Amino acid sequence: MPQHVQGVIAPGRNEPVRVETIVIPDPGPGEAVVKIQACGVCHTDLHYKQGAINDEFPFLLGHEAAGIVESVGEGVTDVTPGDFVILNWRAVCGTCRACERGRPWYCFDTHNAKQRMTLLDGTELSPALGIGAFAEKTLVASGQCTKVDPAVAPEVAGLLGCGVMAGIGAAINTGNVGRGDTVAVIGCGGVGDAAIVGSRLAGAAKIIAVDIDDRKLETARTMGATHTVNSRSTDAVEAIRELTGGFGADVVIEAVGRPETYAQAFYARDLAGTVVLVGVPTPEMKLELPLLDVFGRGGALKSSWYGDCLPSRDFPMLVDLHQQGRIDLAAFVTETIGLDDVEKAFARMHEGDVLRSVVVL
Ligand SMILES: NC(=O)c1ccc[n+]([C@@H]2O[C@H](COP(=O)([O-])OP(=O)(O)OC[C@H]3O[C@@H](n4cnc5c(N)ncnc54)[C@H](O)[C@@H]3O)[C@@H](O)[C@H]2O)c1
Ligand SMILES: [Zn+2]
Ligand SMILES: [Zn+2]
Repeated sequence: MPQHVQGVIAPGRNEPVRVETIVIPDPGPGEAVVKIQACGVCHTDLHYKQGAINDEFPFLLGHEAAGIVESVGEGVTDVTPGDFVILNWRAVCGTCRACERGRPWYCFDTHNAKQRMTLLDGTELSPALGIGAFAEKTLVASGQCTKVDPAVAPEVAGLLGCGVMAGIGAAINTGNVGRGDTVAVIGCGGVGDAAIVGSRLAGAAKIIAVDIDDRKLETARTMGATHTVNSRSTDAVEAIRELTGGFGADVVIEAVGRPETYAQAFYARDLAGTVVLVGVPTPEMKLELPLLDVFGRGGALKSSWYGDCLPSRDFPMLVDLHQQGRIDLAAFVTETIGLDDVEKAFARMHEGDVLRSVVVL
C-alpha cells in the first residue's frame, strides 16, 4: 500500500519551499523505503530551489540523510528492514566502463529508484540528487543505502551522505593530500571545513583556510586550519604564497564554486600542484585563463564529485574514525530543526550563520 508522509518540496524557481503530503510507493525490485531520522541542509538544496541545477520542478528536497530501512523490494539482498543506513547519491552500477576499469567512483550509470514519489494529485516529484530526504520516509535504490554502526547519532551520520563526505574526499581521495603537504581551502562552509578535517587526517603540515567571513575562519581553526586568510581584505593568492615560502600550496581545494575563487586556487598552488574543484558552479558561469598559464604551471586540475568516494568503503570508515574521536563530525551540526524550518535554514545559510542545520525527525 502506498504511504502518505510529510515532506519538503520546492514548487518552482525561487518560490519558498513548503511541507506537503508525499505519496511513497511500496518498494519495487531493487528499491527500499527508508524512514528518515536526520537530514542536513546542503547548499545544493538551495541550488535546486533556485533552479540552478535543472528545471524539473517540483523537487522533493534533502539528500544528506541517515535513517532506518523500513521495507525492501524484490531481489534486495544488500540491506534488510531495521538496518541503520546513510543514503548516498552515487550508487554505482558495477558494469559500466568506469566500474569495469576499477574506478567505480566515476560510474556513468549510478542507480536511483525507478518508481516516482508524487504529490496527492499525482504530480511526479524530482527527488534532490535522487534521494529527497526532507521527508518522514523516502524511496531509493537499495544501493543508495550504506549500512553503518548504529551507535553513531543520525544527525552526525547523515552528514556523510553529502557535504562532509564531499569535503573530506576532496582532500583525501581527489586531492590525494599526504603527510607534510601544504593545503589551502577556499570557502569554509560545511564542505570546506570537511576538506580541512580531511587534510588534517591525511597529515597535512599546513592548512590555510580562506573565506570572506571572519566567523567562518574562526570555525575553520577549530576544525584544524593552521592559518586563516580573509580574502575580502587580503589578496588570497599572495597570502597563500607568503605562508608557503613563496611557492603556493601543494593542494588548493576550491569549495565555493565561482570563477574568481577557482582562479585564486589556480594561481595559489605550487608549480605542478593540484587544484580540486568541489564547489558546484551554476550554468551561466565562465572561466577565462591564459592557456599558457595552464600549460606552464603544470600539475593537475581536478573536479571532485562527492569526494570521489565509494560509500561502501568510506562511510563506515569515517563513522569508525568519528566514534574513535579521531575526527569530530558532531562539530558540523550547528542546529537541529524541524521539517517546517528548511526555508529559515536557507536564510541562515545565506547569512553565513550555520555550518549545517540538520532536520531531525
Ligand atoms: N562536489 C560535490 O560533490 C559537492 C557536494 C556538496 C556540496 N558541494 C558544493 O560545495 C559548495 C559549498 O557548499 P557548502 O554547503 O559548504 O556551502 P556554504 O554556503 O555553507 O559555504 C560556502 C562558504 O564559502 C564562503 N564564500 C562565499 N564566497 C566566497 C569568496 N568569494 N571567497 C571565499 N569564500 C567565499 C562563504 O562565506 C561560506 O563560508 C557549494 O557550491 C555546494 O553546492 C559540492
Ligand atoms: Zn558503473
Ligand atoms: Zn549536498
